Amino acid sequence: MKKKLVVLSGAGISAESGLKTFRGGDGLWENHRVEDVATPEAWKASPKLVLEFYNQRRKQMNQAQPNAAHFTLAELESYFDVHVITQNVDNLHERAGSSQVLHLHGELSKSRSEIFADLIYEIEGDQLNWGDTCERGTQLRPNIVWFGELVPMIEPAAELVADADILLITGTSLQVYPAAGLVRFASEECVKFLIDPEGVEIYGISNLTIINKRAGEGLPALKNILIEKYA
Ligand code: OAD
Repeated sequence: MKKKLVVLSGAGISAESGLKTFRGGDGLWENHRVEDVATPEAWKASPKLVLEFYNQRRKQMNQAQPNAAHFTLAELESYFDVHVITQNVDNLHERAGSSQVLHLHGELSKSRSEIFADLIYEIEGDQLNWGDTCERGTQLRPNIVWFGELVPMIEPAAELVADADILLITGTSLQVYPAAGLVRFASEECVKFLIDPEGVEIYGISNLTIINKRAGEGLPALKNILIEKYA
């Protein structure tokens, strides 16, 4: 049986595809304060601004291509039972070929009713507009988990991590909870790697190797070691 390899990915894995991370130097996300575009309060106060912000993110995503890090994770499926748990709302893991991807914070490519949370739709193209409605006539919003909202997929994610033989953490500053707390569900025996070009604060985790590299460089190199030692 293949060993279970669980990946926790964040914005940094898509940086080499040209998509910006959240916590850059200026504290802004694409020139916006996060409270102005990624909260239920923002949606209530200025839905058109929020729609336009995510329309731009969706357009960037559709123009971007997966990079070596995304492709490496897809290739690892030949050797391991790979599950990707991503905080990213882009679809680059899927487009690189990963088949088991859990989106903790929702997906840019989908909309949902602002009232009926289980009415979820694919968005064709880049645009979701004011006046676009669900089959029951309510306004559609981006299918994104905003700050201040519950994270419905956190439990299945925690179960995957608890069951992991190998855990790869990459591209996340581990500053946003509950996602950041997932690391703590891994067993002591689980072999853990963190790949990030910057220093990420992480303490008290057993069996952890830190690799100070970009994901596009660090992951392909680590892939060969994983196959040799653990597959
Ligand atoms: P952050 O922007 O907080 O962190 C990005 C991490 O990626 C940092 O540790 C960078 O050092 C690292 N990084 C940058 N370039 C990299 C590269 N080429 N390879 C590997 N790592 C690189 O992003 P997240 O931790 O994903 O939530 O942010 C978590 C959540 O906060 C997001 O999902 C989003 C945000 O606000 C919502 O939208 C709900």
